[in-house]
Amino acid sequence: MRLILVSNRFPVQWDGTPNVGGLATGLASFLSHWKSLGNEVVWVGWPGKSIPEKEQKTYSKKMMEEHGTIPVFLKQKLADSFYNGFCNKTIWPLFHYFTSHCEFSDITFTSYEEANEEFAKTVKEIYQPGDWVWVHDYHLFLLPGILRNTFPNIRLSFFLHIPFPTFEIFRLLPERIRSRLLKGILGADLIGFHTQSYTQYFLRSLLRCLGIENERGNIYYQNHITKAASFPMGINVEQFVMYANSNECEQIANQINVNHKNLKQILSVDRLDYTKGVLQRLNAFELFLKQYPDWIKKCKLVLVLVPSRTDVSSYQSMKRAIDEKIGSINGSYGTLDWTPILYQYKGFPFEELVPLYKNTHVMLVTPYRDGMNLVAKEFLVSQKKGMLVLSEMAGAAAELPEAILVNPNDLNGMADAIKEAIEMDEKEILSRNTLMINRLKENSVMEWAKKIFDETEETTNQNLNFQTKSISPTSNLLLPKSNLPVFIIFDYDGTLVPFHSFPHLAVPSRELFNSLTILSQFKTVSVAIISGRDRKFLESIFGNLPFHLVAEHGAWHKAPNQTEWDSLFYSNLEWKKEIKTHLEEFTKRVPGSFTEEKEYSLVWHYRNADPDIGLNAAKEMLDELSQISSNSGFFVQRGNKIIEVREYGTGKGKAAIKILPNITTETYVFGDDTTDEDMFRELPNQTISIKIGKSETIAKYRFQHTDEVHVWIQNLINHLKKVNDGTT
Ligand code: UDP
Ligand code: G6P
Repeated sequence: MRLILVSNRFPVQWDGTPNVGGLATGLASFLSHWKSLGNEVVWVGWPGKSIPEKEQKTYSKKMMEEHGTIPVFLKQKLADSFYNGFCNKTIWPLFHYFTSHCEFSDITFTSYEEANEEFAKTVKEIYQPGDWVWVHDYHLFLLPGILRNTFPNIRLSFFLHIPFPTFEIFRLLPERIRSRLLKGILGADLIGFHTQSYTQYFLRSLLRCLGIENERGNIYYQNHITKAASFPMGINVEQFVMYANSNECEQIANQINVNHKNLKQILSVDRLDYTKGVLQRLNAFELFLKQYPDWIKKCKLVLVLVPSRTDVSSYQSMKRAIDEKIGSINGSYGTLDWTPILYQYKGFPFEELVPLYKNTHVMLVTPYRDGMNLVAKEFLVSQKKGMLVLSEMAGAAAELPEAILVNPNDLNGMADAIKEAIEMDEKEILSRNTLMINRLKENSVMEWAKKIFDETEETTNQNLNFQTKSISPTSNLLLPKSNLPVFIIFDYDGTLVPFHSFPHLAVPSRELFNSLTILSQFKTVSVAIISGRDRKFLESIFGNLPFHLVAEHGAWHKAPNQTEWDSLFYSNLEWKKEIKTHLEEFTKRVPGSFTEEKEYSLVWHYRNADPDIGLNAAKEMLDELSQISSNSGFFVQRGNKIIEVREYGTGKGKAAIKILPNITTETYVFGDDTTDEDMFRELPNQTISIKIGKSETIAKYRFQHTDEVHVWIQNLINHLKKVNDGTT
């Protein structure tokens, strides 16, 4: 299978030197494995600078031949506004909780949209059905949506390499932007995050911003299922272990160490980014020297900072502050024969980084916030006797609880952690590291990608299944094929009329009412409305039409042209009083919600409530009611932003069977809700069942919207007229 990887960054920079950053390094090591399994890969990305038009062809050819990459060319101005602007001055700081560094600008967001379109253009040129397209990171939130519009059946994953923030932070983005971003990612079949918390925060933002609920991470949106779940990214453990144990690595490690053999090495390796907490780490190191002077001249801090996003001013000022701090510590504590901090402002290749890890006694990974942090993992598998001091704010902390976990805001805590790590007994280190290393071995980057692929595949197949059910309302498959009478069952809300914030306002349009009236005049056609609504409401809307009316999910029935309603069964409704009090308590607690009372049922509506509070209360209510419902004479069902409690034994399926004529008919049934699934299930096999909307169904076909039901009715009328005129 061919994988099309799409990320802003390539594995290499425009000049062919390796790119540093977890996304590029992590994915590059997975790709060699993927290829070794006989699969193909192309990597679509931005070269990192603008390439003059006349050189682009040669550059593309070279990149494809040497690295299997396809460049997306962005003009300098666009790249600047997209990458330095919206990506790194808005999303990056916001998603890392650095709100004071955030700039909100419509101009940079427009560039973000344009750049995503440019990426889409390149992918569209190469995409072939059957490919797996895997989009990465915060630069390309809109791309999945664009690709889904062009290729509805595309196998598409999205992975976010940075944290997804809590809703209170995410909502700082202007509404127009935040909803575009969320809808964009929903184009993917699978959305992966590093941790469970990021997944939960994302799902909550979906609920709060777009009102979209999920079922255990499955999201139904625009006739498409997206699954959101956590997949902590691993590393290529074998590659690190093999190299760390090689003679070459040993030699380099010895060479590096030759002048500092007696010093314990504390190591810090990061891109120079304000999220990494480097300044605070330096302060903690200084405090450590101050509080534990015995360690002066017995240790050294090797500080590797890789230049990053140097055009962004917050990065420039951070660099100046760090340089000053290093100068100040080395000035205060250093002597002619000892310098506490060895500072390297550059990136090291893998072959030199692993020896550095190997020589380390204490590894300091103390970001303020980090999506995952691969350096922490790489360090662990490259040696056995060094201790990891890890920020609890790094995604990696969830998998590495045996490290010494610190809060990066707690200077004293960090200084003490350095002391604890540097003085820790070797046996203790070994036992902690063994546990962590074994865990990392089980979740290598290959395993990580495989899980993402498998879950994507599963959701893609589910979606294909979902798509095949969609049908045009004017399809001949939905027209009577014989001269048999036609029996049509419509659910009401969500089927004949769209939902309304207030149920009494959800009434048919004049056009729909006219169509239904015309339909009722065909002698061969019988119509039934089977609804959860009460008798009074159905009577008020359809009382003048010769329809079967079934109210309260089958509790009441009125045959065409009758004036009386029949109760379909007897009940003393003993449960109702107690449950009503219960529902009303929820109504008091949840502003915007209300309780509707019908003869055989009670409904709690939360459509107008705060989505989060409404959903949580609904879950709580379901939980409580299901605990008391057994043998209590009632039945609880969740519907579209409602919880319905009704008399046990009622149900639309049973009612539909009861009113189905004895003579053979061609039967059509339309419904949108879980209560309609009973009809789809219980009516005879040959019934043509049509689900309206997105969620899962056992119906044979699917319409997207109530409008399509109206089109179908009109089409049926036209067809029947032609049959009557003898023109068909
Ligand atoms: N890295 C490197 N050379 C260096 C410093 C870092 O190759 O001199 C690599 C490191 O091996 C790791 C990646 O850069 O794979 C950094 O990833 P991490 O997840 O720790 O942080 P990010 O930069 O993605 O925020
Ligand atoms: C983080 C991001 C990556 C990014 C990397 C380096 O790891 O998640 O998407 O590539 O930093 O940043 P840069 O801006 O140089 O691509």
